[in-house]
Amino acid sequence: MMKKKLLLSYVACVGMACTLASNPVLAADVEALKGEAKQIIQGFFKELKGELVSAMKAGGPVNAVEVCHKKAQEITAKHNRKGWKVGRTALKLRNPKNAPDAWEKAVLEEFEKKIAEGADPKTLAKAAVVEMDGKKVFRFMKAIPVGKPCLNCHGEKVKEEVLAVIRKHYPEDKATGFKLGQLRGAFTLSKPLN
Ligand code: HEC
Repeated sequence: MMKKKLLLSYVACVGMACTLASNPVLAADVEALKGEAKQIIQGFFKELKGELVSAMKAGGPVNAVEVCHKKAQEITAKHNRKGWKVGRTALKLRNPKNAPDAWEKAVLEEFEKKIAEGADPKTLAKAAVVEMDGKKVFRFMKAIPVGKPCLNCHGEKVKEEVLAVIRKHYPEDKATGFKLGQLRGAFTLSKPLN
């Protein structure tokens, strides 16, 4: 039986992560990995959102910042399974631990460019197989747009008491001033391939 092969077309070398231009990876495998990545994102997002909503209900945005500060990293790590590494990243960061690497930064910039050209951030995602430290790694990113509730903590008019608690935990915060529908950041997942 003929198997469909995909030659990866992402050719640019960004920083340490040089992309394989010639090593074929089965298209079917890439599709399966994309499916897995999307499922992990769904579960991760649902849990994060659940925590945020209940913390907002229990004590408003000041309390929700505290909860988010305590739990976001822990919830993120919990979704690392079966070889997957899961995270959130952005160009304008709140937590420096979420900083993008060169490949992620290039993808975020590509998302921004597409949005400037009229693309809907909800539809933006990127999958690629790249080489990192001599190993093939599947990488996937999905754009995160700014929704209405996000404006409480990432918007242009964040309340003074909310800003105070944000500054307390994130003295280098750059993640305010966003408008509805803008790109806030992205989910970022990776999995080493054999
Ligand atoms: C109650 C305040 C609050 C609300 C509401 C909120 N966030 Fe955040 N956000 C935070 C905090 C605090 C962090 C830092 C979490 C950490 O320590 O990893 C953060 C981090 C992030 C990050 C990770 C990148 C970075 O800058 O560190 C993304 C992406 C993000 N938020 C998107 C959103 C989106 C999209 C919404 C709306 C659905 C939202 N946030 C709503 C407080 C909030």
